Amino acid sequence: MTFRNGRRAGGLAVAFSLLFSAVTFAGCSGPASVPTEGADPWGDLAPRVARDNNPAPRVVEVTLEAGLSTHPFAGFPATPVWSYNGSVPGPLLEANVGDELVVHFTNRLPRPTTIHWHGVRVPNAMDGVMGITPETPPGGSFDYRFALKDAGLFWFHPHVESDVQVNNGLYGVLRVRGAEEPKVDHEGVVVLDDLGLLPDGTIPTVLDDNAKMMGRGGDILLFNGRRAPTVPWRAGALERLRFVNAANGRFFNLRLEGYVFRVIGSDGGLLTESYDTERILIPPGKRFDVVVIPKGAPGAKTVLWNDPYDRGHEGGHEPSLAVATFEIASATPLTGRVLPTVHAALERLPGGPIDRTIALDEALDAAGDVTFTINGKSGADVPVIAEHLGAVRRYEVKNLSDMDHPFHLHGFFFQVQSRDGVPQPPNFVSNEDTIVVPAHASAVIAIRFDEPGMWPYHCHILEHAEYGMMGMIDVMK
Ligand code: C2O
Ligand code: CU
Repeated sequence: MTFRNGRRAGGLAVAFSLLFSAVTFAGCSGPASVPTEGADPWGDLAPRVARDNNPAPRVVEVTLEAGLSTHPFAGFPATPVWSYNGSVPGPLLEANVGDELVVHFTNRLPRPTTIHWHGVRVPNAMDGVMGITPETPPGGSFDYRFALKDAGLFWFHPHVESDVQVNNGLYGVLRVRGAEEPKVDHEGVVVLDDLGLLPDGTIPTVLDDNAKMMGRGGDILLFNGRRAPTVPWRAGALERLRFVNAANGRFFNLRLEGYVFRVIGSDGGLLTESYDTERILIPPGKRFDVVVIPKGAPGAKTVLWNDPYDRGHEGGHEPSLAVATFEIASATPLTGRVLPTVHAALERLPGGPIDRTIALDEALDAAGDVTFTINGKSGADVPVIAEHLGAVRRYEVKNLSDMDHPFHLHGFFFQVQSRDGVPQPPNFVSNEDTIVVPAHASAVIAIRFDEPGMWPYHCHILEHAEYGMMGMIDVMK
């Protein structure tokens, strides 16, 4: 089945239940099965899978506890962190599309918190946003419960004091499998982060001007909570790597020495067309889904580099830093694997005139402090945008400032229709929830507002969001 432009409101429910169900693959020869929990050759380099406490086949029921723990970042003694279920990253929640997810959440932090399900199309009350979902006070509990409509790699994090709480280690991942996934020999989830630590190994608590501008972080790059680990992989295997950037501000500019990434998916799951690229730029909040086939003799090493990237204000002068080193394991090489191509049958949202412009900028407030603005206003002063349920709208996101901003929308996927006036290639459709809008550039995005409620949109540099670059869209029935 294929969807075309111009689907009307009457067909909405049907359209969305089918949107992501038609995917075809080519080139998946001789595949092994989807990797099973517990058998991961990455061992403790992989995020820990949360236990599903509900035997019912279509319900995933887990317990999450946010609390204080410690984490040994390489080269440092145990660093006090805030974490979900005691680990950084927090657990990996595993589900299938159509499942109901039930999360029994308890807050053992000294501060109120919420869980926001980044990229997941949830009912508004489950979005974990202050003022919409009640904050969970210290010692309190809250149950999150919703159906998983889409396949993809999503993540979760607090939406209260998010700049501090996420930086302290509160983030985890949710992998939702679709009915049709490319068959691969191994699939790894890679949660990226960066961190700056004080000499005593603690996370700085003071927000200096640079951290406010660039986002808290530092030159300790983390691959599933580990600094530059060595990760085994098998020669000839079809390896799927699913990246999510949980850093406050760092843009990961990844290159795998000697390889080309085949990109098969992004925020909202698989793409209509896969493509090959030597580097992927992952801003905070975003996901990339790639496949590669490792090559070489046992012991051969390949570095996953984070190359400098100039996102404004800092010049991108830092050296390339290793995120991880992949090493060919001694297992017998696999043969006959071919990189798959994907053709997800995504509906393309219709083009048309721009309905609204969202201009992102920086300014000084009355006290002379840096604030981040949307259409000249900051935070609670940004007027609420009203939209009608079911409307498809085109927004121009315009960056007036000297630095890149990753634009993120809750509740809905959006599709990029053009960048700086240049239309997207006609065959390429992807559903996104976070995109880079470079300094002094613009993007036109299309959104179908198919779920009522108050939905934030904001820069995913969390300091920018907390200091003003956040607004709300009220989708009314
Ligand atoms: Cu990942 Cu409003 O956030
Ligand atoms: Cu920003």
